[in-house]
Amino acid sequence: MSKVFNLDESKVLNEIMRYRRDVRGNRFINKAVPDNLIDKILDAALLAPSVGYSQPWQFVLIDDIAVKNKVLNSFNDKNKQAQARFSSEKQKAYQALKLEGIIEAPLNIGVFYTPSQEPVLGQTSMTEMGKYSVVCAIQNMWLMARSLNIGIGWVSILEPEKVKEAVNAPKDSELIAYLCVGYVDKFLDEPELKTKHWQQEKNKEELIVKNSFK
Ligand SMILES: Cc1cc2nc3c(=O)[nH]c(=O)nc-3n(C[C@H](O)[C@H](O)[C@H](O)COP(=O)(O)O)c2cc1C
Repeated sequence: MSKVFNLDESKVLNEIMRYRRDVRGNRFINKAVPDNLIDKILDAALLAPSVGYSQPWQFVLIDDIAVKNKVLNSFNDKNKQAQARFSSEKQKAYQALKLEGIIEAPLNIGVFYTPSQEPVLGQTSMTEMGKYSVVCAIQNMWLMARSLNIGIGWVSILEPEKVKEAVNAPKDSELIAYLCVGYVDKFLDEPELKTKHWQQEKNKEELIVKNSFK
């Protein structure tokens, strides 16, 4: 018989999703994450769905300060450029946000997409599907980590080529995510960008469409 879940179990999953947060450097604490828990997070990634069961992912575990510093340099470069993209009122608010935890998190994980040399079932017309599969793996990691009371922060204000260089990634691989992983002093109850009024929560009614947009 196939596995059946009860409502309490479904509620736990919902709570893990509800209380998952993006964690930045101001929340990480100086406490190593045990290897067996890192392994649980990686095993969760490997359970993710992938187009054509291609499993097109690779995970680089980074705790070397020299590698972290190279990535941080790239963040600093890109973050300076990023500020200028926002309106003058928003630039001050942007500057006040902490948007990474590269050094503070004891572990960083670079998540890479490695394209298949052969055609992949399901990816023949929508060629981005391999990358979306890697994102499914990342969400699994984020949720598993939260269930273990471990925080993850996703840093995307980076030059992907610089990150590839820092970890000697193969030429054809692509950086999908750079994750900062570690224990936290606390998990915020709500997204920080919501409570700081950077971005409002959208209404459910606007987001769900029946049959046709018009
Ligand atoms: C694809 C992706 C990229 C992100 N990149 C960054 C980033 O570069 N820096 C950052 O501080 N947060 C980043 N975030 C986190 C979002 O800001 C965060 O998920 C959002 O504000 C909602 O907050 P929550 O994750 O705590 O619910 C990223 C999230 C996603 C899904």
